[in-house]
Amino acid sequence: MKKNDIIENIQIEKLVFWGKGFVRLENGKICFITGWAIPWSRVNLRIIKKKKDFLEAQITQVLEKSSIETWNHEMIPWAPWVNIDYNEQLDIKQKQIEEALFHLKKYQNEILLLPIVGMENTFWYRNKIEFSFGKYISHREEIFQDFNIWFHKRGDFSRVLDFSECFLIDNEQNAIYQRVREYTKQSWLPVYDQKIWTGFWRHFMVRRMYFSGETLLVFSINPIFFENEKIKHDALKELKEFINHLITQFPTIRSVYISHNTHKADILIWDMELIYGTETIEEILLWYRFNIGPKSFFQTNSVWAEALYTLVKKFSIRDSWKKKLWTVLDLYAGTGTIGMIFSSIADKVISVELVEEASGNGKDNAEKNGIHNMEFINAKVEDFLEDYLERWQKADLLIIDPPRAGMHPKALPNILKFWTKQIIYVSCNPATLWRDLEYILANSEYHIEKVQAVDMFPHTHHIETIVSLVKK
Ligand SMILES: C[S@@+](CC[C@H](N)C(=O)[O-])C[C@H]1O[C@@H](n2cnc3c(N)ncnc32)[C@H](O)[C@@H]1O
Repeated sequence: MKKNDIIENIQIEKLVFWGKGFVRLENGKICFITGWAIPWSRVNLRIIKKKKDFLEAQITQVLEKSSIETWNHEMIPWAPWVNIDYNEQLDIKQKQIEEALFHLKKYQNEILLLPIVGMENTFWYRNKIEFSFGKYISHREEIFQDFNIWFHKRGDFSRVLDFSECFLIDNEQNAIYQRVREYTKQSWLPVYDQKIWTGFWRHFMVRRMYFSGETLLVFSINPIFFENEKIKHDALKELKEFINHLITQFPTIRSVYISHNTHKADILIWDMELIYGTETIEEILLWYRFNIGPKSFFQTNSVWAEALYTLVKKFSIRDSWKKKLWTVLDLYAGTGTIGMIFSSIADKVISVELVEEASGNGKDNAEKNGIHNMEFINAKVEDFLEDYLERWQKADLLIIDPPRAGMHPKALPNILKFWTKQIIYVSCNPATLWRDLEYILANSEYHIEKVQAVDMFPHTHHIETIVSLVKK
């Protein structure tokens, strides 16, 4: 078997990490399937990569739909699992965690895995969404659309699909999006073409907070599209007039930015100009108030962020003789949301975060909430730990919430040097979670007390998992 070979009539066995399909072929080779893989559907595949231990293939044709496909919605890049029955989605995610834990059996035979927590309402959950402007030109498919706004075709930044709504955001966000779509489509300005790096409209972002209802918008444009300053001035004036209309039509809008992006990189946030309202909007989680700007990291599902943080707090163990935890280290803290939630049950919380702006937002948010026992350190966790340990500083709870790549190899040995009774690891990637847990179990006295996944992103392959590790 070689690259570009077609394999016919394959039944996808299951989904593994990152939503890839999995099948063991007749010759025993493992094959990972990209595209819209759904367990038990029958498909034809084209091999796109051949490695020593496995093949990677793409679906070329679906021969028979899977029995777990209960809906027939057009495929959506942001919600690739939308056609899969929600209980089946939960089942797939629970099995993925089970499999990840299975690899740890040699260190710990019994691991308590609690049932995944699913959402009641699986739509309209996103408080932030970014739309792209672009074209979809495909000679093979005979598609020639030169003004589209919605999402990129999966894995293809130069092709943008066109659609008038998104069911992951609420009615107000959709209504704002539709108004912007109408306006930009009838404007004389073209979309940015990612292939030749010219055009005007680049992205549009809506952030609408679930609990406060406040809305922030960002229009991302290419300011060097114009031949002369006069035309540029007129175009921006027109856009600002449109924004004024929008604000009167949608009173929840508190803040509007224009992002002037002259760079080739497909990034929304660039040179930001606040053109209406306040610099930040507010969200309220578990009675804490958070200021959120266009660049701030904030969980995109407010309702389930509350559920996640509540569970993390519930997982924490406090000795009965201790009124409060002494020192909590909130590692990979973002804006310190988890740290803030622990501030009421700890003497001191130290939140460590790489992005300077996030640490700054965290500091402001702590102040806004009258929290005085938090310290925000803007540093890499791996560097912070070395420093902190050198100074013989102690902690009695570590909370670790790293990005998808997991923990830095330099940080892992250092977290084991603390005498903390408990580590709570929050993960958004089962593969790196398993890797880091393996290191911890193999090199320390910790064992896994319990594990629970939370489905913060229905209709996608993303899983958030909380693990409590306790010293034997
Ligand atoms: C999954 S987010 C967690 C945010 C936060 N705990 C929350 O719930 O809102 C991971 C965070 O780790 C930060 N980060 C990534 N690498 C880092 C590093 N080496 N040291 C410190 N922070 C890092 C990212 O900027 C991001 O804010």
